[in-house]
Amino acid sequence: MKQEQRSVKEVHSELGMHSVRFAKDEQGRRKEQQVLFKWPEVQKKLGEHKHIYVVDARLGSNNHTHRLWYDVIPPHTEEGQDWRTLGHRHTVEAIIYFLKGHGHSIIDGARYDWGPGDLLSVPMFSWHRHINDGDEPVLRIASTTGPLSLALGQAVYEDERYPEFWVYAQEGEDARKTLIPGGGGEIDRAKVAGSRVAELYAEEVGFAMHEEQLRRKSKVLVKQKDLLFEPTAMGRVAYVVDPRIGFQSKALGVVMAEIPSGKRSGAHRHLYDEIDLIVGGRGKVIVADKEYEFDTLDVLSIPVFQWHQYFNTGTEPLRIVAINTRLALENLGLSLTHQGELADY
Ligand SMILES: [Fe+2]
Ligand SMILES: [Fe+2]
Repeated sequence: MKQEQRSVKEVHSELGMHSVRFAKDEQGRRKEQQVLFKWPEVQKKLGEHKHIYVVDARLGSNNHTHRLWYDVIPPHTEEGQDWRTLGHRHTVEAIIYFLKGHGHSIIDGARYDWGPGDLLSVPMFSWHRHINDGDEPVLRIASTTGPLSLALGQAVYEDERYPEFWVYAQEGEDARKTLIPGGGGEIDRAKVAGSRVAELYAEEVGFAMHEEQLRRKSKVLVKQKDLLFEPTAMGRVAYVVDPRIGFQSKALGVVMAEIPSGKRSGAHRHLYDEIDLIVGGRGKVIVADKEYEFDTLDVLSIPVFQWHQYFNTGTEPLRIVAINTRLALENLGLSLTHQGELADY
């Protein structure tokens, strides 16, 4: 059957209206998105496969900028089984939070030992491997800006096991050592005209190299005991990963909140995506006009610009690790956070 031919006017008017309609359509998708992901369901799936995606646009999530998965590393093995030298590297930012077990990671040649409650912020495009040194399985979550990099057409994942998909690493030892996809370079300023415009252009060429130097100075490992919790409008909060405390992060940040039994956080809404991992206690969250009850190890996907507030309904302190893409949105000039009711704690 021949498709009905549509006029140029029809096709292009529709494209124009797609942009006009988008924000309102997106509001509807945010209202309908799945917020609560229960640990028992994830746990069941982890019995069948060691790596389970939880919040992920490819599984129907409305989160456009980051994702979260759970995974298990069996005792005395290395993640991926066959990672023995390089591991893998990627052009997405990554956070790993360890829930159970002990081991170490090799990141850009340096060793980091970790246990429950510790967190890694893996610098962009650094080779990394994770090894379980103990007799117990390692249980952890990871969150990355994979969806954002994919949407930008800039997601490169180079894995030791799959060299046939390498884009840069096969080009030799130098290409393998750099934290810059494709390698860095600088203009020899003595050889070019010393004009203002020449300076501006030389800065552009040197940007990646400068960025690599900053990435190599970035903090990587956060120990639970080093977190600084202080009172804020949202309650007792610690910044965990943030450029203002020594991380070379441009997209993914982490904060942790503690709410005493019977108390509540503040209410707020913001333009960035947020995924919460409940690491202690139980409670409920109000998101817009709905309520969700959660327990330890459950995951919450907070929709963009929906009011949300947390309540500790249990007897233990409620502890929440909130992984967000505030930095990505700030760098796009799109950051906006509204504070509502203040915390009671
Ligand atoms: Fe990774
Ligand atoms: Fe939030």
